[in-house]
Amino acid sequence: QSGDFVKIVEVGPRDGLQNERKMVPTEIKVDFINRLSATGLRSIEVTSFVSPKWVPQMADNSRVFQRIEKRDGISYPVLVPNLKGLESAVAVGVKEIAVFGAASEAFSKANTNCSIEESVRNFKVVVEEAKKHGIRTRGYVSCIVGCPYEGETKPATTAHLASIMLDIGCYEVSLGDTVGVGSPRKIKRVLNELHHVSSSNMSCYALHCHDTYGQALVNIQAGLEDGVRVFDSSVAGLGGCPYAAGASGNVATEDLLYFLRGEGLETGVDFDKIVEIGDYISNELGRANHSKTALAVLAK
Ligand code: HMG
Ligand code: MG
Repeated sequence: QSGDFVKIVEVGPRDGLQNERKMVPTEIKVDFINRLSATGLRSIEVTSFVSPKWVPQMADNSRVFQRIEKRDGISYPVLVPNLKGLESAVAVGVKEIAVFGAASEAFSKANTNCSIEESVRNFKVVVEEAKKHGIRTRGYVSCIVGCPYEGETKPATTAHLASIMLDIGCYEVSLGDTVGVGSPRKIKRVLNELHHVSSSNMSCYALHCHDTYGQALVNIQAGLEDGVRVFDSSVAGLGGCPYAAGASGNVATEDLLYFLRGEGLETGVDFDKIVEIGDYISNELGRANHSKTALAVLAK
């Protein structure tokens, strides 16, 4: 890809929906994902193979994955916390998974009921087993700047965990500002630390910015300046984490696309279709559209 290309990983169907209290019907999820598949997106995170006791909204993971139309050239990753999740993912033909950990002990415990060290042992087993099935793995590090339980986290903890994830075979690590407390200087501090810890360049990293404090786009700008070219986003700014109270959605895909176009960067994603889909899913969920860009366009 040229330096002007930015890849967007649409996480709306997973991060966006996991926090919805009312169960979203499987057909709506499938329709939502199928619409996203027709926009030029190259990666759509579609569901999680986590415990339904922990995240009831994702309990229909196998049905969603089986029913969506899979188009050539598009990845449909799913979150997998353990071998049980991997087994279910393998059974329905998943080709890409994401393992997820955190730069905070308290968040690791709250989100996956284990310490950071235990999570690392778990990732190794899951990634190894995934490889045997020809499945590729993306890694997530949550709480790269701050944690809802512990406050500020150390860049070194993020860098350490990210380098382990790359070492054990994750092809990319997505750096999550889970509660959206980061600001550009803090994001840059994390990115700078990554350079120190691993020899890998920024092509192995993505940024996953929640917009709780309205900082997502400036943080993405900071990432762009430092060479990051992959960003996670959710249409209509859907999202949040069930184990991070008060955290709002991801940066809205509409806002991200508008921003990147303004910066002269290519994504291959159809802006108008994304605005339409954001409007559609907001109506289906009966919730406000959190993309300012979409509201401006739709008001015309
Ligand atoms: P646990 O309770 O320690 O696990 O949870 P367990 O092994 O004792 O299992 C408990 C029950 O769940 C058992 O059922 C298991 O069979 C079942 P029971 O015997 O009681 O009937 N179970 C499963 N069922 C289906 N699929 C599975 C599975 N595993 C166990 N894979 C566990 C540990 C990791 C399972 C749990 O903590 C969990 O599922 N956590 C996931 C939480 C989650 O999905 N959080 C949101 C995603 S992360 C996020 O949003 C952040 C991100 O966006 C980045 C960012 O913003 O920073 C990625
Ligand atoms: Mg998230």
